[in-house]
Amino acid sequence: MMKKNNLSCCVLLHFLCCCLLLPALVLSHHIHGNPASNIVDIINKNLTDQKLPRLNDSPGLGCMALQYVELCKGNCTDNNVVNCKPPEDDFTEVFAPNCGVELPTFGTITGHIVGCQRKYLEPSLAFSEVLIKDEKSLSLLKNKSHTEVGVGLVGLHKGPFFWCVLFSNGKTNSTFVLENHGAGIQQKKGCYSGSTTPCSRGQKSRVAFFNIFFMCYVSILLFKLW
Ligand SMILES: *[C@@H]1O[C@H](CO)[C@@H](O)[C@H](O)[C@H]1NC(C)=O
Ligand SMILES: *[C@@H]1O[C@H](CO)[C@@H](O)[C@H](O)[C@H]1NC(C)=O
Ligand SMILES: *[C@@H]1O[C@H](CO)[C@@H](O)[C@H](O)[C@H]1NC(C)=O
Ligand SMILES: *[C@@H]1O[C@H](CO)[C@@H](O)[C@H](O)[C@H]1NC(C)=O
Repeated sequence: MMKKNNLSCCVLLHFLCCCLLLPALVLSHHIHGNPASNIVDIINKNLTDQKLPRLNDSPGLGCMALQYVELCKGNCTDNNVVNCKPPEDDFTEVFAPNCGVELPTFGTITGHIVGCQRKYLEPSLAFSEVLIKDEKSLSLLKNKSHTEVGVGLVGLHKGPFFWCVLFSNGKTNSTFVLENHGAGIQQKKGCYSGSTTPCSRGQKSRVAFFNIFFMCYVSILLFKLW
């Protein structure tokens, strides 16, 4: 009787572990650090390899790029096309205020690229397969008007994922300035380049929790075998 109880308890624990631990591992392997910043690095590598000047990484632009994809999150077609046209005014009336961009420092957006994909792609693939995937986007990237760049990305629970690049011709540190260096931004989902908050922030505590859970599980198992 006792043995049977132990066994069913074991099976139950095992079941719980498989249900809870596995998704946690999958999630934690999904996104590391700040892939939006990695994409900015890849953009600059691509430009400098072509002897073009590098672009300044602007957190203000990055935060607005994240706002842009936040708004477009529901609008990825089956062909991975972002079917979304936010009004121009949204930049000054919604995105900038949400980010705490100081309005007098709002500069000129010289270009934007938006893309979506059913599944999450690593930064280098996001660059070549989502953002700069054709001649049109490549020539937009190489436009000499740009001096600054920002990248935002966000994903729904099981995809699709959205990426946005914004370019501007502003002067380093004097356009798209974030109030209080962005400390007040409530970044709940996704991530943006130049931010000190990594994408995976929300997942770290969950991973820690499951690690503890897993350790308990193993100790119980060992204890029983013993
Ligand atoms: C998203 O798609 C819906 C349905 O096609 C459309 O009504 C809406 O305007 C789109 N959102 C934006 C911000 O363009
Ligand atoms: C570069 O971008 C600027 C600002 O958006 C635009 O006016 C210009 O036509 C673009 N140049 C080329 C060569 O596409
Ligand atoms: C820059 O990126 C484009 C688009 O992915 C690619 O075709 C090109 O080879 C890259 N250039 C360099 C020098 O890496
Ligand atoms: C811009 O600001 C950063 C961080 O405050 C600083 O490290 C950098 O030197 C500044 N760049 C310019 C060109 O002022």
